[in-house]
Amino acid sequence: MLKKRRKAGLLAFIIILSFLEGCGTEEEPEQEYPKSLKIGISVYDQYDTFMAEVLYQLQSYVREKEKEWGIPVTLDIQDAGQDQLQQNKQMEDFIEEGCDLVCINMVDRTDASSVIEKAKSNDIPVIFYNRELVKEDLQRWEKLYYVGADALQSGELQGQILVEQCKKDFSSIDKNGDGVLQYIMLEGEAGHNDSMIRSMSVIKEITDSGYVVEKLADEIANWNRDQAANKMASFIEDYGDRIEVVLANNDDMALGAVDALKDSGIIPGTKSWPMILGIDGTDVGRKAVEKGEFLGTVLNDARGQARGMIELAWSIVSDTPLDSETELQEGKYIRLPYQKVTGENLSEIQKRERQMALP
Ligand code: GAL
Repeated sequence: MLKKRRKAGLLAFIIILSFLEGCGTEEEPEQEYPKSLKIGISVYDQYDTFMAEVLYQLQSYVREKEKEWGIPVTLDIQDAGQDQLQQNKQMEDFIEEGCDLVCINMVDRTDASSVIEKAKSNDIPVIFYNRELVKEDLQRWEKLYYVGADALQSGELQGQILVEQCKKDFSSIDKNGDGVLQYIMLEGEAGHNDSMIRSMSVIKEITDSGYVVEKLADEIANWNRDQAANKMASFIEDYGDRIEVVLANNDDMALGAVDALKDSGIIPGTKSWPMILGIDGTDVGRKAVEKGEFLGTVLNDARGQARGMIELAWSIVSDTPLDSETELQEGKYIRLPYQKVTGENLSEIQKRERQMALP
């Protein structure tokens, strides 16, 4: 009996103790959020049309988030001017300035060692963006991330636009009626992930759909309108009316092809005008679809990439989970989807993009 009473007393004591303990932990210490955020941003070339859109979207998204977070956010944006050594130096400056995190659009995506070593030894996380590093480099430290889009998908969608048009009216594309699509490829940069994968996947998409292609020529034009126009001018001299399709790795180079064709007297919309396809869906690229100069383009989501970078930066620096709209794959990658842009969905896309457009 006495034993039973003692047991009951002990149980009550334990219950009271755990209740008191519970009271103690009820008020968990509030999470300390950063009081400000400073992000160093380096772009490989500020005159690249698509990158200029990404930079604009970064700034506009940050202005929105500042209000939501209630803290000042500073973006230190630097142009590397296509010089890797200059970009390495910018990384040192970002560290000296006390940036919380840096976003790097590598000049040479195969030469990330210096940036990675500096980041690691100073414990500053890096979000690489748009110019994808090799996987092994990204795995060299746990605080390295990548935000971009899926290059394979952009080539596939570009191919699908052409295939859809072939199904509608093959004879208007196959000008010489030989059943084969004679094409020109304008490529971005040697060794650039997007260039290599887009060039390969667009052709695979077309041939997998049962169409036969013949490459007349391909040239690198470094994402650049003038360079592409020069290359295209010499292709027009060499191949003239044999050119049925122009596949460009981006809109600026597709616009270069448009310039060269117009200069040589070929008029958009006539039988001699080839099918021209770009990628990016930039403002100028979408206008070319509207005017019928491009058959289509593929929207590269500048706003989505900017959003992904800023949300990820905040999650890393404040040590909070990413917002539910953003998916971090393999703990390192955010990849935004592309979208086809043709005469059919142009007005709907124009409306949406205008709301977020460059001033
Ligand atoms: C690509 C884009 C190109 C160019 C390049 C720079 O994703 O389509 O227009 O901006 O990035 O790395």
